[in-house]
Amino acid sequence: MLQLHKKLLTWYDSRTREMPWRDHPDPYAVWISEIMLQQTQVETVKGFFLRFMKAFPTVQALAKAPQQDVLKAWEGLGYYTRARNLQKAAQQVMEQGGVLPSSSSEWAELPGIGPYTAAAISSISFGEYAPVVDGNVARVFARILEWRDDFQKLPAREKLASWLQPFIEKSKRPGDFNQAMMDLGATVCTPRNPKCIICPLRKGCAASAKGLQEELPFKPLRKTIPFRFVVAVEIHDQTGLVLFAQRVHEKLLGGLWELPSLDFGKGESPEDALQKLLASLGFPTAEPTYIGEVEHTFSHFKQVTNLYRLNKSIARPKVKETPTMLFKKPSELPLTTVTRRALAL
Ligand code: ADE
Repeated sequence: MLQLHKKLLTWYDSRTREMPWRDHPDPYAVWISEIMLQQTQVETVKGFFLRFMKAFPTVQALAKAPQQDVLKAWEGLGYYTRARNLQKAAQQVMEQGGVLPSSSSEWAELPGIGPYTAAAISSISFGEYAPVVDGNVARVFARILEWRDDFQKLPAREKLASWLQPFIEKSKRPGDFNQAMMDLGATVCTPRNPKCIICPLRKGCAASAKGLQEELPFKPLRKTIPFRFVVAVEIHDQTGLVLFAQRVHEKLLGGLWELPSLDFGKGESPEDALQKLLASLGFPTAEPTYIGEVEHTFSHFKQVTNLYRLNKSIARPKVKETPTMLFKKPSELPLTTVTRRALAL
């Protein structure tokens, strides 16, 4: 593996990549793209990145935008904490004089930026020799080195970063070195069915030599995630507007809007929960139609939403609107993914 950096960069240079953030060498654009890329694939990020940069072209613009506009621009990317932290970080930068940091240690002090994103931004934008160890990179090297550490944990990631340090320095192109590793993990050394045949690092790979590539990286057994059951109701007024409720700030998906809904427990039926929900909205005797079910997996639980619809003749005054309970066109609000999927049923 003495030539690791050379093999990686030769492979990287041979690839055609159309990534719009490459045309934005400024650190602000790199920062936005790296936050989007944290939990989202390159192909999906492309469109969102361009729209976001148009809406918020500078750190100043992002800092002073209404939070609802930022969430709206993020709608569909998921993991909305990223958007809220991004704006918090922009506001912090503006309070400290408006200049973006240049070192990875300073970047890591901003909300939403862990060691891997800090290393990605500072290496790509400022040429810092800081190796990125994200999930993709950890998988690549767990296989190459046959390391059975738990790479969810910081000590294992730090150990790998130290191992990579001399290679990133020899590469003289830290940003490309890091992106080559991430790209290799995302496209070749994939979690399932890795494409060892075309891998530039196959020769030095312990897992490939021993046929262990599907077994590594080692993952400690996880508990199965719990289910959560929810009823939601779609209520239209005479003009076709839909009733939405805003989720509580600071909680999961805080600030986003959804159809009025209620959780129900194991002993309860969806019908009972629906009656409770309708009574709380001022429709104790309404008989909505069952529309269908939306199943959505969050990081810590699975949610099954039973969707009902009230027919369109319901008069609007029955529901008292408040700042967090409004009749609106769906396109006017940042909605949760479950809500968008429910409305599409
Ligand atoms: N994943 C996260 N950041 C990335 C980048 N800059 N290039 C490719 N994949 C990435």
